[in-house]
Amino acid sequence: MPTVPDESVNHVPVLLDEVLEALAPKAGETLVDLTVGRGGHSEVIARLIGPTGRIIGFDLDPANAAFSLERIRRTGCPAETHHASFVDAPSILRKSTAHADMVLADLGFASNQMDDPARGFSFRTEGPLDMRLDPTGCVTAADLVNHASERELADLIYRYGEEPLSRKIAREIVAIRADHPIENTLYLAEVVRKAYGPRARQSRMHPATKTFMALRIAVNDELGRLETLWDELERTIDAARLGGGWLTAQARIAFISFHSLEDRIIKHRMAALVKRGAAERITRKPVIAAEEETDLNPRARSAKLRAVRIAPMP
Ligand SMILES: C[S@@+](CC[C@H](N)C(=O)[O-])C[C@H]1O[C@@H](n2cnc3c(N)ncnc32)[C@H](O)[C@@H]1O
Repeated sequence: MPTVPDESVNHVPVLLDEVLEALAPKAGETLVDLTVGRGGHSEVIARLIGPTGRIIGFDLDPANAAFSLERIRRTGCPAETHHASFVDAPSILRKSTAHADMVLADLGFASNQMDDPARGFSFRTEGPLDMRLDPTGCVTAADLVNHASERELADLIYRYGEEPLSRKIAREIVAIRADHPIENTLYLAEVVRKAYGPRARQSRMHPATKTFMALRIAVNDELGRLETLWDELERTIDAARLGGGWLTAQARIAFISFHSLEDRIIKHRMAALVKRGAAERITRKPVIAAEEETDLNPRARSAKLRAVRIAPMP
């Protein structure tokens, strides 16, 4: 049954065909969607696994967890979603009756979050400098920008944004905030532009792109959470190979990342599993979007999909 376009979804799932090929969902199977978002991938998988299947979703954003639940349930597939970080998913799943055949993590943010000025992710629209994916989280981008030391800011912008002008930008932020706290997206974008000076005109991307990305990664501890998730997944995979835990013995696991720092972690973690014989590759190389997809959805340009399958015990 074709999916009905729905304006309220405000997110197009990336690499959808490629995810379906990698996970190969079958009727009656269970999917754990670690970043269920607007339910785009899950809804399509729900139709394939049908009423005897099951979807268990997680999202840091309670609005997305609630929205996707409605959307998935409309397909007739049993579903539950949790407002929780994927870091906490393994302990929640251990206490459940779940036996998952597929795990999907489509990292980062959804378009509805980026497009909402009140969430503070975009340097193109005016809003509070927030950037929390989980609105109940305690640290906002404004907290970092106004309270971190110049050194901490420079390191953060360099490490997470790979921004060569990080020291100049941190110096500018600290000079400006001494007179006036920086609490607004457009104000911060202007401060970064000022630090860039004449280079701003030569830059192909907006000068604030890397600084905003760095702050988002820091506020949401994106890399720390991803490493912790993989620590848990490795233990879960070992348990599954012995016939225990919440994953089936030949489960498929797919990750979509949107920047090189995330992709590096996924690449190394998957390679380590393959090397010690605990998993087999489904994707030989990272799968990227075809031109037809990136023409329609520019966000897909930076997406990379990697997938493995748990390997049977020798
Ligand atoms: C790219 S979107 C997922 C879109 C989804 N695949 C779809 O097709 O609608 C990423 C989602 O992951 C959520 N998210 C990011 N980090 C998370 C984490 N550590 N734990 C749980 N959810 C997270 C975000 O709030 C966002 O809703």
